[in-house]
Amino acid sequence: MENIIVNYRGPIIFGIGFLLSLIIGWFLFPMALYKSEAQPLQYNHKLHVTDQGMSCEDCHAFAESGAFQGIPAVSKCAECHAEPIGETDAEKILVEEYITPNKEIPWKVYSRQPDNAYFSHASHVTIGKMDCKDCHGSQGESEQLRTYQVNRISGYSRDIWGPNISGIQSESWQGMKMDKCIRCHDDRGRRDGCIACHK
Ligand code: HEC
Ligand code: HEC
Ligand code: HEC
Ligand code: HEC
Ligand code: HEC
Repeated sequence: MENIIVNYRGPIIFGIGFLLSLIIGWFLFPMALYKSEAQPLQYNHKLHVTDQGMSCEDCHAFAESGAFQGIPAVSKCAECHAEPIGETDAEKILVEEYITPNKEIPWKVYSRQPDNAYFSHASHVTIGKMDCKDCHGSQGESEQLRTYQVNRISGYSRDIWGPNISGIQSESWQGMKMDKCIRCHDDRGRRDGCIACHK
């Protein structure tokens, strides 16, 4: 009797240890590594695009110089929201805290790359004829902003690494590490030197 129990102890302890390390690796480590930060207000893409019939370019325009304008300035929102149209909390924040005092909204950019990496929308969208979805997934059709998460060590948005901590992503647009930029360039016959992206 004694002997059998003794013989089982090793595998059981190993099993418990193995389970614990899985739990730590998959759940506790990401929780400790990433910090959640709230967006200044909720924003609904679907309402403006599908219901109001606006196009991406109405808000995410390219200037005449070709330069991508990014997230629209608050003056764009003021075209319709100078006074509240509806009754949601998000719109109340928009009007009272940003439009009326004419203050820019400090949106957190999920895809933000580190300052030392150069990226141009004109090269990819205007010249490369790529779709927003190739890199941003369905954000342009979303009804709600998801939680923005930042890596506590690097200060980078979690989207650079992608949601899956293993680095294996379930959707092609998830994650935008350097090797991914380079892999797509490679596939299209581009061999860029470091200086193309690190200026
Ligand atoms: C009425 C203006 C408006 C229109 C129209 C609009 N957007 Fe946006 N977009 C915003 C605002 C405001 C944000 C910042 C909040 C957020 O992250 O969603 C944003 C953010 C984004 C981002 C987030 C970038 C990042 O990494 O954080 C993407 C991608 C995007 N828009 C794509 C689209 C696409 C694709 C369309 C067309 C289908 C579209 N948008 C139409 C206003 C607009
Ligand atoms: C062309 C007009 C137009 C423009 C430009 C516009 N909106 Fe709206 N927006 C609307 C309409 C219409 C509604 C629906 C109002 C309602 O019935 O609640 C709305 C609703 C909203 C709401 C409340 C809905 C919700 O789900 O909480 C927010 C917040 C909002 N817009 C933010 C913005 C921001 C930020 C911008 C600038 C980037 C912007 N809008 C630009 C027309 C516009
Ligand atoms: C080849 C991939 C790719 C494509 C295609 C692409 N984007 Fe982006 N987008 C990025 C990257 C990478 C960033 C972050 C850039 C940075 O931080 O310098 C970004 C940032 C943004 C931002 C935030 C900009 C800012 O600096 O505030 C918006 C808004 C956005 N993209 C919208 C769009 C829209 C709309 C389209 C389609 C017309 C589009 N993107 C197509 C990769 C892409
Ligand atoms: C899915 C494919 C794809 C991805 C992902 C991608 N690129 Fe590109 N990139 C292209 C293509 C295609 C071109 C060439 C466009 C042209 O000039 O015809 C290009 C061109 C460039 C150029 C040269 C621009 C110029 O004006 O000479 C730079 C710099 C660049 N990409 C940086 C990046 C960075 C940084 C990332 C990652 C954050 C990235 N790219 C991700 C496809 C991609
Ligand atoms: C096609 C664009 C591209 C090319 C070419 C490229 N990089 Fe990068 N690199 C990036 C992007 C985007 C990042 C930020 C995302 C990440 O950390 O993977 C990055 C990050 C880095 C980092 C980490 C910096 C940090 O702040 O985390 C180093 C180091 C680096 N690159 C070195 C190089 C060297 C050396 C070369 C040439 C052999 C090179 N890169 C070529 C796009 C590129």
